[in-house]
Amino acid sequence: MPFDHATALPAACYTSTEFFAAEMVAIHRRNWFFVGLASELASPGAYRAIETVGGPVILLRDNDGGLRAFANCCRHRGSILLEGSGRIRSIACPYHAWTYRLDGALIAAPDMERTPDFDLTEHGLARVRLETWQDLVFLNFDEAAPRQDAHHLADHLRPGGYRHKGRDEARMHDIKFPICEREELERIRRLKAEVGGKLAAWPQHFQCAL
Ligand code: FES
Repeated sequence: MPFDHATALPAACYTSTEFFAAEMVAIHRRNWFFVGLASELASPGAYRAIETVGGPVILLRDNDGGLRAFANCCRHRGSILLEGSGRIRSIACPYHAWTYRLDGALIAAPDMERTPDFDLTEHGLARVRLETWQDLVFLNFDEAAPRQDAHHLADHLRPGGYRHKGRDEARMHDIKFPICEREELERIRRLKAEVGGKLAAWPQHFQCAL
């Protein structure tokens, strides 16, 4: 659609529960999102608890120097495991003291030894996909999302990395609209077709716009 024919989203898109659900499925839980700088978690055991579109997440630096992300949710009864930020040697649940290593493995589950066939190795923390590009850290809840997309996003985030390709794009940038390149627009169309079938109805404007 030529930029001169574009209009803003209708107000209902900002309040519609249905539209929000569609956005969550088609965009936020399928795309890489920026969560911070790797250098903020420089030493083993450094962690930060964050809120994301997919729920609370723990970012941490493990003992081998790798960055990891886990659902901030105990595998026993779902208690929040960590808050804020700091340094830890292991992750101990404040509720019943299940304890996890920094690689997410469950290493202690008090009283569970009386439960037949309980296997510690089957109850580690749920991993969240994480990619780094230089110092930038990205997460994604979609196991199938191409990892190179995180690098593509990073390219836009770095200082001076925003490319002006033409008059319309420059104008959109000037007035603070996000730019959808052709491939991205095609991808959104495919996602919309996939998700739209599961929803009762999409706002008419959105159907036309994409
Ligand atoms: S909820 Fe975490 S140990 Fe029970």
